[in-house]
Amino acid sequence: MAEKKFYEMSRGERLNYVKKATEISDDIEAMLKPLAFDDANRMVENAIGVMSIPMGIATNFVINGRELLVPMAIEEPSVIAAASKAAKIAKINGGFTVEAGGSLMIGQVQTVGVDKTASDKILKSKKQLLAIANAKSRSVVATDLQVRQLRDASPNNMGDMLLVELVIDTKDAMGANAINTMCEAIAPQVAEITGGEVVLKILSNYATRRMVKCRAVFDKGELGGSEIVERILYAYALAYSDVYRAVTHNKGVMNGIDAVALATGQDFRAIEAGAHAYSARDGTYRSLTKWHRTREGDLAGEIELPLAVGIVGGITAMHPAAKLALQILGVKSAKDLAMVMAAAGLAQNLAAIRALSAEGIQEGHMRLHKRKFRK
Ligand code: MEV
Repeated sequence: MAEKKFYEMSRGERLNYVKKATEISDDIEAMLKPLAFDDANRMVENAIGVMSIPMGIATNFVINGRELLVPMAIEEPSVIAAASKAAKIAKINGGFTVEAGGSLMIGQVQTVGVDKTASDKILKSKKQLLAIANAKSRSVVATDLQVRQLRDASPNNMGDMLLVELVIDTKDAMGANAINTMCEAIAPQVAEITGGEVVLKILSNYATRRMVKCRAVFDKGELGGSEIVERILYAYALAYSDVYRAVTHNKGVMNGIDAVALATGQDFRAIEAGAHAYSARDGTYRSLTKWHRTREGDLAGEIELPLAVGIVGGITAMHPAAKLALQILGVKSAKDLAMVMAAAGLAQNLAAIRALSAEGIQEGHMRLHKRKFRK
């Protein structure tokens, strides 16, 4: 008998499959139990319960030559099936090729009411300020400090300001808490050195030094032929050229990225904010993905975006389901996780624009939806 497909299996069979494929020795089912109220109450204020959403597994992903199961937490039907389908097509040409850059983030200390000598004074005290920052954390390291003069562009004419920016290597953490702590730690010294007033002390979620780039080639035959490839390129032309379409196109990308982010306990709001700012980096909001036809007539896709994620600290250390998701992925670093997310985003976008360019989203996506919710 032919082997059952993942979607044809019972829940027990799926859990066994995951266990076998990943060699996880922990009790998977126990890790998937809803969060206990006491834990929820420790996480947020005024807790009254937990809001659970489905977690599923996207199959067929090959990332930099490694086959892996991708946990996705999402309430929307068809996203997991679509990601699996797109990954299956990508697999024909070797799957997803992904590179991740550094793990540097920026923490900003906004200083107002300073004169022109303030920048130099701060730069002269760089060593001392870095030492104050680094005394606050053992896990992440402030590697540099930079200054920027900024003119108020708001209508309130608040005058010039000086940004003192810590460059922090967050390694395998997302880093928000450590960065904010470091910024707050140097603030009194910054005020004293400059004679100005420090206002904000906070990380930037625009993580342009944590970039990830992912590429894949999708077989034209599997996509439905050259005509579909052509129609997908028209879809891309619209997403590149028109903000109304670009936002929806990128929403499809984020269906993939956010679902992995949620499953693995990431701050998906930070990821979203950074991704959308990057989409508008040339002054116009455009598609996060790029598409072109290869010489062979297949469809090549690419996504590049900042991804600030962590595999240590925060909710990843507290939430059993997030821990499980990280174990299923078998990621060894924050960069590994970011690479999976980029691949999920590209896969999801391909699936959406393929369906839109062919049968239409209602036909495929919503048919599945109706089947699932029919009583
Ligand atoms: C629906 O969640 C996502 C899509 O609208 C994305 C797109 O239009 O590309 C289908």
